[in-house]
Amino acid sequence: MVKDTLDLKILNGTIVTPTESYVGDVGVKDGKITIIGESLSDVVSTDTVDASGKLILPAAIDCHTHFEMPFGGTVSRDGYESGSRAALSGGCSCYIDFVIQGKGESLRAALKRRQDLAATKSCCDYAFHIAITDLNESILAEMEEIVQEEGVNSFKVFMVYDFAVDDGVLCQVLQRAAQVGGRVSIHCENKPLIDYNVKKFLSENKTSPYYHYLSRDEDVESEAVKRVVHFAKAFKAPIYIVHLACKDGLKEVERAHAEGYQDIVIAETCPQYLAFTSDVYKRDDGQNFVLSPPIKGQESQDALWDGIQRGIIRTVATDHCSFLSEEKLWGKNDFSKIPNGAGGIELLYPYMLSEANKGRITFNKAVELCSANVAQLFGIKNKGSIRVGADADIVIYDPSQDFVVTKDKLHDDNDHIIYEGMELKGCVSMTFCRGVLAFKDGEFMGKSGFGRFVKRVPLSSSK
Ligand code: URP
Ligand code: ZN
Ligand code: ZN
Repeated sequence: MVKDTLDLKILNGTIVTPTESYVGDVGVKDGKITIIGESLSDVVSTDTVDASGKLILPAAIDCHTHFEMPFGGTVSRDGYESGSRAALSGGCSCYIDFVIQGKGESLRAALKRRQDLAATKSCCDYAFHIAITDLNESILAEMEEIVQEEGVNSFKVFMVYDFAVDDGVLCQVLQRAAQVGGRVSIHCENKPLIDYNVKKFLSENKTSPYYHYLSRDEDVESEAVKRVVHFAKAFKAPIYIVHLACKDGLKEVERAHAEGYQDIVIAETCPQYLAFTSDVYKRDDGQNFVLSPPIKGQESQDALWDGIQRGIIRTVATDHCSFLSEEKLWGKNDFSKIPNGAGGIELLYPYMLSEANKGRITFNKAVELCSANVAQLFGIKNKGSIRVGADADIVIYDPSQDFVVTKDKLHDDNDHIIYEGMELKGCVSMTFCRGVLAFKDGEFMGKSGFGRFVKRVPLSSSK
């Protein structure tokens, strides 16, 4: 590396990795990190950032978003442009969104449909998981091409909603994904039980948002988690449990790890499950918290934090799926009519880093959960770490400047945020994506169309 040709040098910050924190400098050239840890103060560089007193972090990767997704009788509010704008404004330089296969649609056609939407709009880099809703022999065959040729190594199955699959389909997808070097993300809830509960509550005129929680309580989720973990172990098929929200589901994941399935059974949780309890459904704006699985009780929240501390939960992602207030109000008097989901991508890193700054976890842990583990699990080779050769996806974080969440400071397209009024300790000062400054001191500076599709490498195949 020729030291005198840098595009950007970041000086005197504390570089945070999952395993260490140390004061150093970072040099960037052509969008890549080219030098770390040496004194670069005398090196010529086009731009210089003084990061004294600040942290230098790998940008977050949100591996669970639903941008402009047709759902719940509408389309989720944030699309690829506003979603990625919010992402960058919160220190996230890459997201993995969901392609939902249409009935009769090939996986390639479904992928292309969403790639075309994102390509001109996304301000940051992106990848996709493909949700399989209509399985047949040709889709099973196509799964291999998707992993090996298209750079998509993760599939998704839903056990709920209109695109739910039954256990037979789920098991076929699990086995095939394992053969071809893929991992399957799964939304775990017991659909027949939910359908029964919803019908019962509505017939008893129990219609408030709190019954959303009661119709999909801890047992509704944990039973499905247990079933799925059982299948994963039986087939040695890598799974990724999205948005884990309950204590007993976590116990099942822990048991699988103790039995040696640490690389097979992976669990994610989301900030909404760490920050709130089911009491939110009793609030006047309870409908805004209607998302699935619902936010559970205090015992589950405590268990999730404990699972993070002990490495049982390996990632934190947002499940960003925002809807307008007026859409959430469709179900004010019938919880089953509320579109499920909430926004939050701009607060993923700020929230987790704030919890670190308050002492609940280490900064290293926050980096591991929101960036490094995501890159490693989903085969994103060039992101998720501050290392020579990686993309210069870098966040400068100021631990001394506090941030009170108000909607007007955020950069998404929705009209409310469930974290309104939350006091965060520390804030994201700058976000770079491939060496280009996209956010600084509250101001978004990125460009739509800058984002690139990230091809991912197959997981080690058991074929
Ligand atoms: O309520 C939620 N989580 N909406 C988005 C779809 C899903 O289940 O992830
Ligand atoms: Zn889900
Ligand atoms: Zn989701």
